[in-house]
Amino acid sequence: MTFYIHTYGCQMNVRDSEAVAAALVEAGHEAVADEASADIVVVNTCSVRAKAEEKALGKLGLLCASKRERPRRIIGVMGCMAQRMGEKVFEKVPTLDFSVGCRAARLIPGVVADIAAGGEGQRFVTTDISDHDVPHGHLDAGLSAFVTVLLGCNRRCSYCIVPDARGPEYSRPAKEIVDEVACLAKRGVREVTLLGQSVLNYGRLGQPVFDAPAPDGSPYTEPFPRLLAAVARVEGIERIRFTSGHPSGCTEELARAFRDIPQVCPHLHLPVQSGSNRILKSMRRGYTAEQYLAAVERLRSFVPDIAITTDIIVGYPGETEEDFEATRALMRSARFDNSFIFKFSPRPGTPAAQMDDDVPSAEKERRNQVLLAEQDDIGVANNALWIGREVEVLAEGPSHRNAARWSGRSGQNKIVVFDPPPGIERGDIIRVEIGRANPQTLFGEPRGAIGRNRLLHVPVPLVGSHSLL
Ligand code: SAH
Ligand code: SF4
Ligand code: F3S
Repeated sequence: MTFYIHTYGCQMNVRDSEAVAAALVEAGHEAVADEASADIVVVNTCSVRAKAEEKALGKLGLLCASKRERPRRIIGVMGCMAQRMGEKVFEKVPTLDFSVGCRAARLIPGVVADIAAGGEGQRFVTTDISDHDVPHGHLDAGLSAFVTVLLGCNRRCSYCIVPDARGPEYSRPAKEIVDEVACLAKRGVREVTLLGQSVLNYGRLGQPVFDAPAPDGSPYTEPFPRLLAAVARVEGIERIRFTSGHPSGCTEELARAFRDIPQVCPHLHLPVQSGSNRILKSMRRGYTAEQYLAAVERLRSFVPDIAITTDIIVGYPGETEEDFEATRALMRSARFDNSFIFKFSPRPGTPAAQMDDDVPSAEKERRNQVLLAEQDDIGVANNALWIGREVEVLAEGPSHRNAARWSGRSGQNKIVVFDPPPGIERGDIIRVEIGRANPQTLFGEPRGAIGRNRLLHVPVPLVGSHSLL
């Protein structure tokens, strides 16, 4: 049968969808680029804000309606909303065929086979939320790949549904991760992004992730920097990224790893959420604004050019104008390279949902707009600093806006648009001198030798779509 996966939410979901797609291909199904022609459609869902769930439910409703003309079509849901809603999702979408929870995705091909063979009734499949359902399979997806290194989250920030949906933290053994990366490198991947909700927590719960303690004299003894060093030893891997960070993991060792391991890209996504200590405490983030800024400074003292991006929530319960101004001030001190701003959305069962959601939605919107404008100003100033300097770019191909030019990303994860020199191939790493910048993009001309690495050319198959919310 043909299939299509529609993905909402974060990179973790993108990665899970890829693993499910790989498992469906292995089971003999065929990925198609257009949803309308697919016999099986799976919607991978996000619960982080109410709007994300509404969108997924709307999508599922439309898909299930299509079964009136195509009764043999199989429609399923997976991911965080499937986990959170359990069997209740069938009340909302009565003709849905299956719902598979976060740590049971490996069971999807079997569920599909069963339904196709005429098995009766709707399936809700979940496993113990502490099950270690690590996404393994990869598609031949080109230059960059996601690798999940840590499942779940133990932090329980007051507003967040993720720990309920994704269960407790589990760090994969380092050897398993390195083997997966080595396999990807053989298939042409040059850039890996290591994923975990709080990825710097890797191996910190006391689970043994390495076979032996770091030998005397090793530069890294903490588990995550050790993992970075191990992944960097994989031949063919030119770039290592990871997300998301937390200030408690921004140790001197991590800063040294950024500086001394050439493959580790100078970029960290380090969600701050708020600049007000009162709000941070209520959010149970585990740091103050001062500690957050100290973490940023520690990283910058080792790697002055490191790009720091963040997430911010506006309109958290009880957020006053003064709290909001503290966030604005923190944004200016931290000089973020990018900020993702979210309006607080109460999530069922979380402590913050018990509080009075007292910031009116028009005020949330105003604060959102103010911070977006603030970030634009900071972004213009930050990007202007690159004018006249050179950056290393992993060439990805013709730019979306103007096919005569090419685009790629710098180590700082900035989009760089440049005139392609003759003979350039997708996957080359080239040096580009920046001539112009706007808040989102750098523009420049190629300089110096091309192709420090001549990479394999791997076409990117399309197996679904991803909507960021
Ligand atoms: N694990 C990541 C965040 C995952 S959720 C981290 O902590 O670093 C992605 C972002 O969604 C969060 O950083 C937060 O800014 C936002 N978010 C989470 N719950 C939210 C809620 N209830 N309302 C609004 N935004 C929320
Ligand atoms: Fe949610 Fe906090 Fe865990 Fe991030 S660290 S996933 S915000 S509970
Ligand atoms: Fe990611 Fe959304 Fe789940 S942000 S972890 S897909 S709730």
